[in-house]
Amino acid sequence: MGLLDGRTAIITGAASGNGAAIARLLAAEGASVALLDIDGGGAANQAAAISDDTGAPVFGARCDVTHAADVEAAVFQTLETFGRIDVLVNNAGILLDTPLPGLDMTAWERTLAVNLTGPLRFIDTVAPAMIAQGEGGAIINITSIGGSLGFASYAAYCASKAGLMGVTRAAALALAPHRIRVNAVAPGIIHTEMTRGLYADPAALAEITAKIPLGYVGEAVEVAKTVLYLACDLSSYVTGTELTVDAGYVAQ
Ligand SMILES: NC(=O)c1ccc[n+]([C@@H]2O[C@H](COP(=O)([O-])OP(=O)(O)OC[C@H]3O[C@@H](n4cnc5c(N)ncnc54)[C@H](O)[C@@H]3O)[C@@H](O)[C@H]2O)c1
Repeated sequence: MGLLDGRTAIITGAASGNGAAIARLLAAEGASVALLDIDGGGAANQAAAISDDTGAPVFGARCDVTHAADVEAAVFQTLETFGRIDVLVNNAGILLDTPLPGLDMTAWERTLAVNLTGPLRFIDTVAPAMIAQGEGGAIINITSIGGSLGFASYAAYCASKAGLMGVTRAAALALAPHRIRVNAVAPGIIHTEMTRGLYADPAALAEITAKIPLGYVGEAVEVAKTVLYLACDLSSYVTGTELTVDAGYVAQ
């Protein structure tokens, strides 16, 4: 018996890092999973590996969350393939330098398009199917400790993640009458492609590790375990909130 037997989940940004780990864990807990990514080949490869390891029904497809037509096609494909959608994980995200002064408006607009407008569009596209099913649902947005802490070089990223928490609260209230729960997971420093630069610089890695109360950079599966909690019935009375997965970083 898995925690998500009979459920279907969409994961964006599932070709690597946190998204791939979330897809793998949800599949291992019995979910059918659509792995979506702007890197369609990467999503297909992850899906094949997860299928081999878990036997779960999964598929991988290209979907750029900034394109409405891609989002609509991906939701349609998921419904055609699995017949229902119970869980949406808005995980796709980018981290671009936006130092001040000297703002790069292209980087600002791209960051908001991927990290903020994309998740909002996905919620808006998936919600009608969840409502029509009449059995509730779970939406999880991947925010960041950068949504509540300031990072000097990343104004756009910080703004996008703070904004996504605003979307989380509003959507939680809007969809509560349909028993669709909407929550966020805010990772701290996690070992993924996004933080590859840290691993290339031992001094920077040692400096950041010294600031993490539990004393190590997290692994993507540690984010995935919290997403699983919010996706399944263990969190049946939880909506409109953010769970921070940061080894105590923001508690300081
Ligand atoms: N790694 C960390 O330390 C950390 C910390 C806090 C929050 N996060 C968040 O976790 C999420 C996943 O990041 P990660 O660390 O796994 O990085 P990652 O770079 O490994 O994964 C991000 C994925 O999103 C995909 N993507 C990018 N733009 C896209 C688009 N327009 N449409 C669809 N897919 C797109 C990428 O191809 C990639 O597969 C992001 O939302 C990120 O902000 C990561």
